[in-house]
Amino acid sequence: MPASATLRSVPLLDLRPIHEPIRAEILASLTRVVDSQRFILGEDVALLEQELAAYCQVEHAVTCGSGSDALFLALLAAGVRHGDRVATTPFTFFASAGAIVRAGAVPVFVDIDPATYNMDPRQLEESARRVPRIKAVMPVHLYGGAADMDPILDIARRREWKVIGDAAQSIGAEYKGRGVAAFGDVNCFSFFPTKNLGGMGEGGLLTTSDAATAKRLAGLRVHGSHVRYYHEEVGINSRLDTLQAAILRVKLKHLRAWTGQRQANARQYGELLGAGTPLVALPQPAVYQTGHVYNQFVVRCAQRDALRAYLTDHGVGSEVYYPLPLHQQSCFQDLGYLAGDFPISEKAAREVLALPVYPGLSRDDLTYVAELLTKFQG
Ligand SMILES: Cc1ncc(COP(=O)(O)O)c(C=O)c1O
Repeated sequence: MPASATLRSVPLLDLRPIHEPIRAEILASLTRVVDSQRFILGEDVALLEQELAAYCQVEHAVTCGSGSDALFLALLAAGVRHGDRVATTPFTFFASAGAIVRAGAVPVFVDIDPATYNMDPRQLEESARRVPRIKAVMPVHLYGGAADMDPILDIARRREWKVIGDAAQSIGAEYKGRGVAAFGDVNCFSFFPTKNLGGMGEGGLLTTSDAATAKRLAGLRVHGSHVRYYHEEVGINSRLDTLQAAILRVKLKHLRAWTGQRQANARQYGELLGAGTPLVALPQPAVYQTGHVYNQFVVRCAQRDALRAYLTDHGVGSEVYYPLPLHQQSCFQDLGYLAGDFPISEKAAREVLALPVYPGLSRDDLTYVAELLTKFQG
């Protein structure tokens, strides 16, 4: 019997093939930090920031405590204040809109492009015409694929909005051949363990090409202070642990190779299944998504819940990112949106399913998952 016909266990994500080969190196760097007795900021954080700036091809990188904090800090630095409005999509992780509300502002939801799951610039233009007091736009580069930045930047420029990219899932992703960090005022990344560059705990990153913004962000993450105990403005405590920085420095050296493996896995699904099966559509990056980094490999299926149960029964892990669009979350009911307001997002929430794509999947694993998709009868 071919290996692919046997029942296998293929989890959605297994970090062991990522961490095992670098375990000794990680432990050595942790030992070095422990022996240094310095655990907040310090040399590892400063060096990581230089290395991340180079990786993202951007002038300045400022680390912080999480991707969620990065979004919040970016909004503070953009001057977003109580009562301002910030446009983003309802089809994203909660933190995108959560950060807007934490900053005292009001999220203005904008529906997505069904092909990319990212903000539809035509819908943004429509919101810009209708909604007053928008101060900033937060495009999300979901799943590892860039949002359509040129028209979004054009709309923002005409209205003098700030542009804050939520690139939490998209380190290294490219738009028209350039890294996503090159677009907009500030971009925010997450080092949550499931991300392409994941820490062993929480962590986040802000990038910008503007030196003054970088300096402000570096102050905002230490209670708005550049000189200890003197505060120019009110910030938060959101620093990356030195231990996390030491781990991330080891992992960053492998990120390009791991991203290449994710992309090769996505290609292999395509080679095995073409655009998909009659019931399951594979992701098709837009032409401008020149470097999709596949933090998630998300298929689409009208009978999504049945597909998920079928895959579970056959040992294959999957997840729904995200089952309930943000305008329908109970905490946002006071914003006044109704079911049906964002039909593309609502349909996506019913149909998307993330499949295993992590580095370390074998050819047999991918073939097994592809065969199951082919056999799925609904
Ligand atoms: C799109 C998006 N935005 C923001 C975040 C928040 O990042 P963190 O979990 O590091 O706070 C995440 C992380 O899951 C995310 O996927």
